[in-house]
Amino acid sequence: MVVRLNINIAVENNIKNTYFITGVAGFIGSHIAEELLKNNNNLIIGIDNFYSGKKENLKMLKCDRFKFYEGDIRDFELLKKIIFTHKVQYVFHEAAIASVQKSVEDPLLTNEVNVKGTLNILEASKQNNVKRIVYSSSCVVFGDEITLPKNENSIIAPISPYGYEKLMSEQYMDLYNNLYGLETINLRYFNVYGSRQDYSSEYGGVISIFEDKFQKGTSPTIFGDGKQYRDYIYVKDIARINIKAMHQKSKGMIRLICCGTGVKTSVNKLFDIFKNKHNKDLQANYVKAREGEVKDSVCNNSRLIKLVKSEKVTKLEDGILDL
Ligand SMILES: NC(=O)c1ccc[n+]([C@@H]2O[C@H](COP(=O)([O-])OP(=O)(O)OC[C@H]3O[C@@H](n4cnc5c(N)ncnc54)[C@H](O)[C@@H]3O)[C@@H](O)[C@H]2O)c1
Repeated sequence: MVVRLNINIAVENNIKNTYFITGVAGFIGSHIAEELLKNNNNLIIGIDNFYSGKKENLKMLKCDRFKFYEGDIRDFELLKKIIFTHKVQYVFHEAAIASVQKSVEDPLLTNEVNVKGTLNILEASKQNNVKRIVYSSSCVVFGDEITLPKNENSIIAPISPYGYEKLMSEQYMDLYNNLYGLETINLRYFNVYGSRQDYSSEYGGVISIFEDKFQKGTSPTIFGDGKQYRDYIYVKDIARINIKAMHQKSKGMIRLICCGTGVKTSVNKLFDIFKNKHNKDLQANYVKAREGEVKDSVCNNSRLIKLVKSEKVTKLEDGILDL
């Protein structure tokens, strides 16, 4: 089913840039849309099939410059129609089944969405002269190869179907750039966190879970000794990074960027941040480590710093205060 909001012609006449966001009802997609809507010259077209996205994430986007299609990125004809009808110039490709676990259980499904869906976006964009696509890849492409910190030249060794699907999508992005001249950029996000993130997220879900537990005053569970660390980056920073990446000059364009803060945060440290935030002395419940989980992960973000220049990256303590 396709749901469209009304188009106001006067508003449409003011529009300079038209963006298409896939996965717009999801965590990161909805933040990119919110950031873009701050500029009155931007029109944002979004698509989502609500696989993991939520209708409530669209509420704050509701305005004349935002149009939403309930639909599936596996539907090539629909993508072509949307991109053609709205003369889309720029695409942020966020839609995916972002789950290692689901990809292990049902690789045929996740491949259809995560790889075929990406190819559909690329082909529909190529056929309609889209200027540029920014793709949301993941640090999952590094697998559990132990050298840290990771940068754009680190060894690629995915260990799940999801990891391969993100890598394959990156490679399709490169191919369309090299073969057809469609400008594409791959952003490898580390662990993104912030408001509207689902508890079930394999990336920053621990932060949403801690927040919930601390609000309710119940003890959270920590798997293993809690010394394992990650690189958490704030979703509003990720939204701005996406837009910066989209509007870089073509000459000297950076086409692959690891997006993290370069700061290691252990689960124990996260727990302390929440204790301070809520001023509650809860005790964590330590249980056996989960099998198959990458132990530690952190990014060397020097290339990202080149892109964002002096723009501030939000400190974890501040981002968590904003939840
Ligand atoms: N959250 C992170 O820390 C993180 C880290 C690395 C990479 N990523 C990538 O960033 C992107 C966004 O992730 P997120 O955390 O916002 O996840 P999310 O699950 O909140 O967002 C994904 C969105 O895609 C939609 N979707 C799924 N299948 C679809 C389909 N067939 N057609 C249309 N829409 C579909 C979902 O309903 C959801 O709204 C994903 O590509 C993910 O792989 C996220």
